[in-house]
Amino acid sequence: MRVGVIGTGYVGLVASVCFADAGNELTCVDSNPEKLNKLKDKKLPFYEPGLNDLFQRNFARMAFTGSIAEAVQKSDLVFIAVGTPEMPDGSADMTATFHVLKEICKSATKKKYVVLKSTVPIGTAKECEAFCRDHASAEIEIVNNVVSMYSSFFIFLHP
Ligand SMILES: NC(=O)c1ccc[n+]([C@@H]2O[C@H](COP(=O)([O-])OP(=O)(O)OC[C@H]3O[C@@H](n4cnc5c(N)ncnc54)[C@H](O)[C@@H]3O)[C@@H](O)[C@H]2O)c1
Repeated sequence: MRVGVIGTGYVGLVASVCFADAGNELTCVDSNPEKLNKLKDKKLPFYEPGLNDLFQRNFARMAFTGSIAEAVQKSDLVFIAVGTPEMPDGSADMTATFHVLKEICKSATKKKYVVLKSTVPIGTAKECEAFCRDHASAEIEIVNNVVSMYSSFFIFLHP
């Protein structure tokens, strides 16, 4: 399957490597050019025991880009794994999530499945569905994929 992952942080990159290891073709997007350059250079931006071996082994199935549109065009399934930091009032800052969703809506020319992997408040999937109805010309189906307690690739591969 062709999979897009937006946000190559602890959650998005571990998921990407594991999806690639399962034989999928990945397009990984990040807005941080330094992180992208490292990844294109076959270097991980953080350490997790064992992850580097898996990354090196599956590198050929992973593309890295700053373009959400490119990932949407190339993928059937798009994961959103950007940060949702806590605001001073305790709520989640959903700015990055909705920015990404807007870009997905703009670039989708046929049906896409969008998977929310970031930690988001209850009700976000419904909010995203309504947002997509207003902003996308193609059908967008929203799926929730709550992240595991931590991002270990071992837990990911052996749940
Ligand atoms: N790290 C964990 O162990 C963990 C555990 C549970 C839940 N989560 C949740 O998962 C989500 C991601 O967490 P993380 O730790 O991977 O965050 P992170 O900050 O490590 O990664 C987020 C990535 O998204 C990128 N990004 C931000 N805005 C972007 C945009 N507009 N377009 C493209 N890329 C963009 C950032 O550059 C960064 O690389 C958060 O909602 C977090 O709460 C994380």
